[in-house]
Amino acid sequence: MDVYEAVDSRRAVRAFSDEPVPKEVLERVLTAATRAPSSGNLQPWHMYVVSGEPLAELKRRATARALAGDLGDEREYPMYPDELTSPYLDRFSAAAAQRYEALGIERDDPDRPQKIATLNSEAFGAPVVLFCYLDRTMGPGQWGDAGMYLQTVMLLLRAEGLHSCPQVMWTMYRKTVSRTIGADDELVLYCGISVGFEKEGVPRLRTGRADMTETVSFIGV
Ligand SMILES: Cc1cc2nc3c(=O)[nH]c(=O)nc-3n(C[C@H](O)[C@H](O)[C@H](O)COP(=O)(O)O)c2cc1C
Repeated sequence: MDVYEAVDSRRAVRAFSDEPVPKEVLERVLTAATRAPSSGNLQPWHMYVVSGEPLAELKRRATARALAGDLGDEREYPMYPDELTSPYLDRFSAAAAQRYEALGIERDDPDRPQKIATLNSEAFGAPVVLFCYLDRTMGPGQWGDAGMYLQTVMLLLRAEGLHSCPQVMWTMYRKTVSRTIGADDELVLYCGISVGFEKEGVPRLRTGRADMTETVSFIGV
């Protein structure tokens, strides 16, 4: 698979089969991803690869919280600005509408927040979740590095025939995550990435994108 194909075929997949992912494949992907760039070569990420009984236990604990209507632990970083304005708000709303329609959750369903939370807390059925942490001392530069690293991981997963879904939702249950996997208190959870083979027969969602010319300016080219 070439890089263009990997980029084009990566989507946030929200229905995984329970086919296990071999450990050697995860090791190959995460070894290759060590080549991701980072400012000053800090490589500020800390990854936890969670599967088997520890993941099953984590899904049980997180889902129990979701079903109880738990609003989650206080956030350690803002995922979005307090005021999301146009064009970002429009893109956010369009993607959310597309996403929940694809998942069969009606806009006016009173149980919508809980349904969304439980789908996320079950990791959409994925047999593996990668949890990416950063040291509490790290700043915006290193958060950007972690994003590059995670995209590198997600593209390499495509080369292995695997799919993924990055999930900030795990930060809602960050204390449950950290306690279950034994992550250090000095680490801040950035997000989880569900990993696995896509479930067959589920409609594929291809979210829209702003046209390239809306976000790119060519100067002197
Ligand atoms: C850092 C990050 C956090 C995300 N968190 C969630 C999440 O909690 N739940 C979810 O269903 N999707 C989540 N997504 C997926 C985005 O909704 C998705 O990438 C976006 O809508 C574009 O769709 P695509 O990835 O399928 O092209 C997240 C993506 C990123 C990069």
